[in-house]
Amino acid sequence: MSVREGTIEELRAAVGLQIADEDLLRTLVSGLEDVEEILHEVVRSDVEAINEAARHLVDAGGKRFRPMFTLLAGQFGTTDRDGVVTAAAAVELVHLATLYHDDVMDEATMRRGAPSVNARWNNTVAILTGDYLFAHASRLVADLGTDAARIIAETFGELVTGQMRETVGPGEGEDPVDHYLSVIGQKTGSLIATAGRFGGMLSDAHPEHIDALRRFGDLVGTAFQISDDIIDIASSSGELGKSQGTDLREGVRTLPMHYALSGTPDPRLVRLLDGPLTDDALVDEALALLRASGGLERAHATLNDYARRAREELTALPSSPAREACESVADYLVARTR
Ligand code: IPE
Ligand code: IPE
Ligand code: MG
Ligand code: MG
Repeated sequence: MSVREGTIEELRAAVGLQIADEDLLRTLVSGLEDVEEILHEVVRSDVEAINEAARHLVDAGGKRFRPMFTLLAGQFGTTDRDGVVTAAAAVELVHLATLYHDDVMDEATMRRGAPSVNARWNNTVAILTGDYLFAHASRLVADLGTDAARIIAETFGELVTGQMRETVGPGEGEDPVDHYLSVIGQKTGSLIATAGRFGGMLSDAHPEHIDALRRFGDLVGTAFQISDDIIDIASSSGELGKSQGTDLREGVRTLPMHYALSGTPDPRLVRLLDGPLTDDALVDEALALLRASGGLERAHATLNDYARRAREELTALPSSPAREACESVADYLVARTR
């Protein structure tokens, strides 16, 4: 049965947010179901190897946060629901493509509660399928006009730049926290900013409102990555649906780690965070030391600050159930780390 007909709690669960307005909930759920149809259509190929590897993570689920936010941003304009739905699907496909590539780079074994594509098949399959998904995202966006095509290309360029800068690490004399915050704005904030911008643009919202949605998306996206980095340390793999402590294993320093290393850090933690960790027992030891440090609390404070700044951007938008729903997006990011 379609969730479209469901109870209000079923609708909230499908959207993943505590939205009060039932009409808005039904609109979002119906949009998400249309997005789902497009995603399944796109991953179909005559080549069985592509079919299987592309369907693998689409079927595994995920929160569908980016398409949901695109649809929500599409509530601030007046027209063209089809364009917003297409954009929402394209944004999820770009996200998905980056996950295929990210799991190769991070040597991750689990994604969305399933084996990652690189683990189940191999790196070549994961890279090529990621490219395939990105190609189809570009095809979808081409139907939305040249502005949209340019924006998604620029966004992908920025996202990849963020991934590269994360790999390279901070430059000589560069503050590591500033570097981290700028990297996550690029690798995660940029696509969520574009989700908001697309929703506004393709529903013909007022230019000032489109801009506010873009800025809100950027801040909320950055907050989203901080919350993900907190969860990577604070939760178990079962809750995560992906392997825990991946950042530690890869030697990627996230915000709670930077904070734990500032001031007078535990010398043992300093040694453990010095490079990639391969031994499970050492990862567990580092996780325990990080949890005992003040790093998580400080990262929480920074997350709160980004969520507050994101909420401030919403004051430029007309008061409506959609604006309230955007507020609940900011609340959700903070709540999911508690
Ligand atoms: C994972 O994104 C990558 C990050 C930017 C943290 P999500 O947490 O949105 O992943 P899915 O789509 O729900 O699997
Ligand atoms: C995810 O980054 C990929 C992008 C944001 C492009 P991470 O490596 O930080 O996220 P997870 O933890 O694997 O989902
Ligand atoms: Mg990763
Ligand atoms: Mg990564």
